[in-house]
Amino acid sequence: MEETYLTILRDKETKTAEFRWAAHGLARLLIPKVVAKLPMKSRAIETPIGAAQGAYVTDDVMGVPILRAGTAFVPALMDVLPGVPIGYLGMARDEKTAEASVYCEKLPPELYHYAVIMDPMLATGGSVCLTVEILKHAGYDEKNVFFVGMFAAQVGFDRLKNVIPEGNIVVASNGAQLDERFYIIGGCGDFGDRYCGTM
Ligand code: PRP
Ligand code: URA
Repeated sequence: MEETYLTILRDKETKTAEFRWAAHGLARLLIPKVVAKLPMKSRAIETPIGAAQGAYVTDDVMGVPILRAGTAFVPALMDVLPGVPIGYLGMARDEKTAEASVYCEKLPPELYHYAVIMDPMLATGGSVCLTVEILKHAGYDEKNVFFVGMFAAQVGFDRLKNVIPEGNIVVASNGAQLDERFYIIGGCGDFGDRYCGTM
């Protein structure tokens, strides 16, 4: 089903409603993959018939959607981890240089052990690497920072795996090249505009 959703997102004829439907569908497939990389905790429980040892995914984790496009992952993360705190980071790329800059930073005051960065598009890698820097500055260990995305360019993927472990990265499609405006060739165009209906 991942390919089906990717194809709908890639198709330039796809309108806002269907784009959102495909984005949410793909997010629901990818979020469990990144959550499965988080450690499990064990807990003794009483079942109706005797004691048992239970296991549950850590709740010491924060979700970090990069605005705007990253918000497409938020409902899926909240479905899997209903109590998860969300720290928003607003980033915009310069239209000419593609350099990312921060326009909004609203991380929770508490420090969590793990952070999951969410952004459908990994192009030059500038936005996500700046996000990792901000998280490290806030006290996060890069070994405990995870990333989930939909479309990745090879250059951005290579840059990201230099700053967090490669095993912490989940993307649906990888290996693309960038065009002269630093957009992913064969990607979905401007994800944020298409998802927000602001073309
Ligand atoms: C897009 C996208 C990523 C970033 C990826 O955001 O959502 O955040 O570009 O590119 P990079 O890897 O080269 O940094 P954009 O700045 O267009 O903002 P938007 O989500 O609000 O549209
Ligand atoms: N941001 C997008 O939204 N799309 C791209 O292809 C690259 C960066």
